[in-house]
Amino acid sequence: MADSGAAESLLQRLDQADGGVDSQQVAASLGVDHQLVVGAVKSLQALGEVICAELRSSKHWEVTEEGKEIVEKGSHEARVFSCIPAEGMAQSQLMTLPSGKVGFSKAMSNKWIKLDKTAEGGPRIYKSVDSIEDTVKDRLQLVQRGQAGSLEEKEKNELKKRKLLSEVTVKSYWITKGCSFSTTVTKQETELTPEMLASGAWRDKKFKPYNFDALGIIPDCGHLHPLMKVRTQFRQIFLEMGFTEMPTNNFIESSFWNFDALFQPQQHPARDQHDTFFLSDPAIATEFPLDYLERVKRVHSEGGYGSQGYKYDWKIEEAQKNILRTHTTAVSARMLYRLAQQEEFTPVKYFSIDRVFRNETLDATHLAEFHQVEGVVADYGLTLGDLMGVLHQFFIKLGITKLRFKPAFNPYTEPSMEVFSYHEGLKKWVEVGNSGVFRPEMLLPMGLPEGVSVIAWGLSLERPTMIKYGINNIRELVGHKVNLQMVYDSPVCRLDS
Ligand code: PHE
Repeated sequence: MADSGAAESLLQRLDQADGGVDSQQVAASLGVDHQLVVGAVKSLQALGEVICAELRSSKHWEVTEEGKEIVEKGSHEARVFSCIPAEGMAQSQLMTLPSGKVGFSKAMSNKWIKLDKTAEGGPRIYKSVDSIEDTVKDRLQLVQRGQAGSLEEKEKNELKKRKLLSEVTVKSYWITKGCSFSTTVTKQETELTPEMLASGAWRDKKFKPYNFDALGIIPDCGHLHPLMKVRTQFRQIFLEMGFTEMPTNNFIESSFWNFDALFQPQQHPARDQHDTFFLSDPAIATEFPLDYLERVKRVHSEGGYGSQGYKYDWKIEEAQKNILRTHTTAVSARMLYRLAQQEEFTPVKYFSIDRVFRNETLDATHLAEFHQVEGVVADYGLTLGDLMGVLHQFFIKLGITKLRFKPAFNPYTEPSMEVFSYHEGLKKWVEVGNSGVFRPEMLLPMGLPEGVSVIAWGLSLERPTMIKYGINNIRELVGHKVNLQMVYDSPVCRLDS
């Protein structure tokens, strides 16, 4: 039956009834689900004063499945009683009957049966009365026939305790005629159209009231990946510290800027196919600032600026090879070179957060591409102490207060330090970054004034993200196995809490 059909049937019943009708009874007499009648009540209520409906709840007793079985086969105690022959039955045998255990104790307390503990061959059960009255069954039968009212409250509760009866609450509407009652319903308009306005028809129409409680449709929208949320927080920290973001929109870089400019010798193992992705097309870069390239070549092959250099035959062919950048320090090198071209040096604080690529063996914590967070400060007279101070300030903003530094090696920094922090959860010192003071062999060929030193540090973005969101396998964070629900559900990130 359609909804409007239910509404009209309901109105007809109401018209014929004196007083009102009960929605449960209407549903039963129409042979439809009660929910359908409830729907009709709701839609009639929305029309205004057609009907009045009052929500009522009533309780009634119902026989449970086990109770129904008893109505059919008799109570357990009656079944036990009826299977005991005149010569009695061994208690052990009785206990194996389906109703044995419950039936025995109930029949005993009813004094229907008696137990002879001293019988030959073990305890034996005898009937102690000739006939019984199965009141449990009789009472359940009454309830089934709708005569629960003839039982006492105590009796019903006893049967409830035995799980043979249950008390069910039913909600229904008591429906009476409203002041604009009618047996036919006119459909209300849901929209005011230009035509109605033009013809004036709107004056005679009934309009459906607005439902201001309706929930809106949740708009489809994008979701930020956890890495992007953590990146936002890192960016915020750098900005608070007065850093400027470097342009990192070039995944492809020449070996020159990625390695040579950073005083990384051409034979360095990192420049091998095993560690770096080389491009086949375009395989080489051709545009370099030539005088700077000459100075880089010289510092590698002959030294200068007080350095011995590496003393090998530096080849432009090696520097020209295009690669996917292996670190964002390539961008820092470009930016420092650009800074050195300024007429007059000005101190700078730069940062970047972007993707880098390494030809690595993949496992639960390593992918061939990941993100680096990098900070660079250039000024006259900066020392290792400044680097440590800036690192402390940076990590405190991340909520990390205990730092330790360990001497390390990078071709482009001297001294270099790995940064460790004490992880309260893991109860150990974990590596959180790498840092150092850029070498004169890198800075002076760029044209930066003597006396300017540059401190820098770098860390991965994935590692703090995984710790923050409790992700153990990097493949659950990045790549084709990512569960998009994880992306939708991940909360915004606050790094210091
Ligand atoms: N480039 C380094 C790396 O890839 C990080 C680093 C940046 C180290 C700046 C020192 C200074 O691990």
